[in-house]
Amino acid sequence: MIVRIMSICMCKGVTERALREAAGEGTAALRWLIRTTGMGSDCGCCMEAMRETVAAVHAGRYAASQGGGEEAD
Ligand code: FES
Repeated sequence: MIVRIMSICMCKGVTERALREAAGEGTAALRWLIRTTGMGSDCGCCMEAMRETVAAVHAGRYAASQGGGEEAD
């Protein structure tokens, strides 16, 4: 079995999965992840990917709340 781990933030080692989970749990969890890892505080190259990932998670939650159930990606 091959497990693919994608990093969103190479500088701080934050994975896409960790970001998606935090974004799905809400603002406090997202802030906690960013504060504790320092994500985005080094080169800043991850900021756009972070915004897009969080927006996709929130769009999926909105669609699910409207009965759509599909996660935007
Ligand atoms: S890739 Fe996230 S701060 Fe550099």
